[in-house]
Amino acid sequence: MDNRILVTGGAGYIGSHTCVELLNAGYDIAVYDNFINSDPEACARVMQLCDKAFPVIEGDVRDTAHLTATLKAHNCKTVVHFAGLKAVGESSEDPVKYYDNNVAGSLSLLKAMQAAEATNIVFSSSATVYGEPEFLPYTEDHPLRATNPYGQTKLMIENILRDTHSANPQFRIAILRYFNPCGAHQSGRIGEAPKGVPNNLMPYIAQVATGQRDALNIWGNDYPTPDGTGIRDYIHVVDLAKGHVSAIAYILEHEGCLEVNLGSGRGASVLEVLKAFSKAVGRDLPSRIKARRPGDVAAYYANADKARALLNWQASRSLDEICADHWRWQSNNPNGYEGT
Ligand code: NAD
Ligand code: UFG
Repeated sequence: MDNRILVTGGAGYIGSHTCVELLNAGYDIAVYDNFINSDPEACARVMQLCDKAFPVIEGDVRDTAHLTATLKAHNCKTVVHFAGLKAVGESSEDPVKYYDNNVAGSLSLLKAMQAAEATNIVFSSSATVYGEPEFLPYTEDHPLRATNPYGQTKLMIENILRDTHSANPQFRIAILRYFNPCGAHQSGRIGEAPKGVPNNLMPYIAQVATGQRDALNIWGNDYPTPDGTGIRDYIHVVDLAKGHVSAIAYILEHEGCLEVNLGSGRGASVLEVLKAFSKAVGRDLPSRIKARRPGDVAAYYANADKARALLNWQASRSLDEICADHWRWQSNNPNGYEGT
């Protein structure tokens, strides 16, 4: 019988890159996804890249019975849980949708895991759970406080996982707090394929570079930062994916509920990112200064010491590599997976 890792949301941006790294590390996997924000083609390309097939199950994580049957059928004792909605603005417009998909979806997953006696879980959390910085860089013991419904869902799921571990210590849990994932696999075959107008900085710049958008809107240049634009911790999605492999190795060896930042530990401003992306493309990309975006903070970045100490993991790819890889993906696939 198989003993696979179930990857919920494995057809998505971070999920597909993590599938590559799990396969490269020798794990068997199965993907469980409802494709609400992804395309099965991403899984097909992961199989091509790794020259290895795996089951892809279409399903919703809120369908506990189907999920339980899937875990049992593949004898999955470990889950990497990416499935969720992630658009901050949309979460404020339709909070019920976000609480239902993200929180109810995670509860359903935990019920299915209990029914199938699967007790190892790696969860996609976010630096957004730290809220307005009280100090920087954020360490894992920075106070937790969400400022929008999306962030609330991440914080609620973290609390549910901590309580689950307290009540059932056989649950081994890794809560990974991602900073700003960007870039793409260096093959240019898989990458981020946002539907509609991108919210996030790098996918937006990438569409300016292809001519799909006329100019980057820089949301504010009057922040208390060296060049006035917002500072974030951009992490290459392949580094992030490798962090999941390290986290699985850790929880298979150690009991407990681990909370760890996955960031590069270095901040970059919007203007620095625009410059680096322009360098990757080989020409200056147009931009204009606009008013600050509501809800944005001036700066944040990770203290990544805990991941280095416990997981023996650190981000190794530079901002230039992030931009070069992102551009290779975008220029080869200007419409994402559409039409393939
Ligand atoms: P993504 O949208 O590309 O991937 C999410 C995947 O989950 C998609 O394939 C989607 O179809 C699937 N999905 C959503 N709801 C589902 C459901 N109810 N049942 C089954 N599948 C479902 O997003 P991503 O950028 O790869 O993010 C993955 C995870 O990491 C998410 O939980 C997200 O909140 C978290 N995260 C992302 C970022 C970021 O900036 N990308 C930052 C921090 C945390
Ligand atoms: N920005 C622009 N123009 C744009 C898009 C972004 O100037 O078109 C600026 C923002 O103002 C900010 C920076 O670029 O200063 C980064 O913005 P993103 O939207 O790319 O990322 P955020 O840091 O706002 O948020 C992201 C995800 C969240 C996640 C968080 C985790 O969107 O879901 O990172 O750190 F929670």
